Amino acid sequence: MERIYLDNAAATPLDSRVLDAMMPYLTTQYGNPSSLHYYGQQARAAVQQARSQIAHCLDVAAQDVIFTSGGTEADNLAILGYLQANHPEGGHLITTAVEHDAVLRTFQRLQGLGYDVTILPVDESGRVRADDVRQALRPQTVLISIMYANNETGMVQPIAEIGSIAKEAGVVFHVDAVQAFGYIPIQPLQESIDMLSLCSHKIYGPKGVGALYLRHGLTVTAASCGGPQEHHLRAGTENVAAIVGFGMAASLLEKERKGRARQAYGMKRFFYDRLISPNPCIRLNGSMAHALPNIINFSVRSADSAVMLIAMDAAGLAVSAGSACEAGAVEPSHVLCAMGLSDEWLRGSIRISVGKENTTADIEQAISIILSVMDTVRGGNYE
Ligand SMILES: Cc1ncc(COP(=O)(O)O)c(C=O)c1O
Repeated sequence: MERIYLDNAAATPLDSRVLDAMMPYLTTQYGNPSSLHYYGQQARAAVQQARSQIAHCLDVAAQDVIFTSGGTEADNLAILGYLQANHPEGGHLITTAVEHDAVLRTFQRLQGLGYDVTILPVDESGRVRADDVRQALRPQTVLISIMYANNETGMVQPIAEIGSIAKEAGVVFHVDAVQAFGYIPIQPLQESIDMLSLCSHKIYGPKGVGALYLRHGLTVTAASCGGPQEHHLRAGTENVAAIVGFGMAASLLEKERKGRARQAYGMKRFFYDRLISPNPCIRLNGSMAHALPNIINFSVRSADSAVMLIAMDAAGLAVSAGSACEAGAVEPSHVLCAMGLSDEWLRGSIRISVGKENTTADIEQAISIILSVMDTVRGGNYE
């Protein structure tokens, strides 16, 4: 059976050019970047080159980029590290109801530690209003953390506007850009972003590596104790091959982003026009405007995501549900709940996320599989 992969927001395939760049560091160049000899210095130079490649993408200084094990660690280091270093006694924090768990659960923990947390609502398309951020500010506000683009719906937040509100108020602004990085040219200095989280496996790099941009002069406390790696902020021997791969993936992204975005949007638009728009029993979650070009989230009325997902997988189509399966029970997505979806739409959500390896023929095939699965689960009822 021919399989179609439309789950690129979960993980992209590794670009062969990235693998080529990584190979020496998995084989002959095995030195530890902390070693003073030739082998160590080769590895150190490779890590520094990757740091420059990421920094170049963001138009920031290389020394302001810290490598982590991924997006989750970058989010944790930013939020917990900043607060521990600067506001250990507590304070008021602002985030939104649609953040990734790497941020939301961190905020829940901080709430338990006595921090005061405001979780802002979103509108029905999943966007936060910049004005709500302004209204939520208090004299005690010390940190705002808002994602650039949502991983379930692809909805893009008004980050530059929020950045200027944060800057004006003198509040540190953290942005989780794990999903946005692949499609939006992000400029932390222009958008008044103080800390920015990234990860590699959404941009055709390897898994297990990410980065945190930290504005020059900002202090954060390391999450773990140990060696002096990554400016004393991330102890432990660097994953050199993965870091090199991430650097190469970022460098390719910088050259190819526009073309990838155009190609992705063409497929997304085709999917919307052919499947979503003409079907009364399908609802777009989010909007076509203010959204990433690669992610589309829709619900099938009164259907169950898990049932549809399994049927689609059996037919060779890999997509994702907008819900997490916990302890055998499918919980509705906190993102779609925050957008106010009613019960009839909430449980039947599906996310498709296209990538540079997909073609319009994949989308045509996917639509035919989805229609046939819908036919089965809804018993031929298209209302
Ligand atoms: C928006 C967002 N933040 C954070 C993460 C976590 O990244 P990682 O899996 O690299 O820890 C993800 C992963 O999908 C994500 O989509």
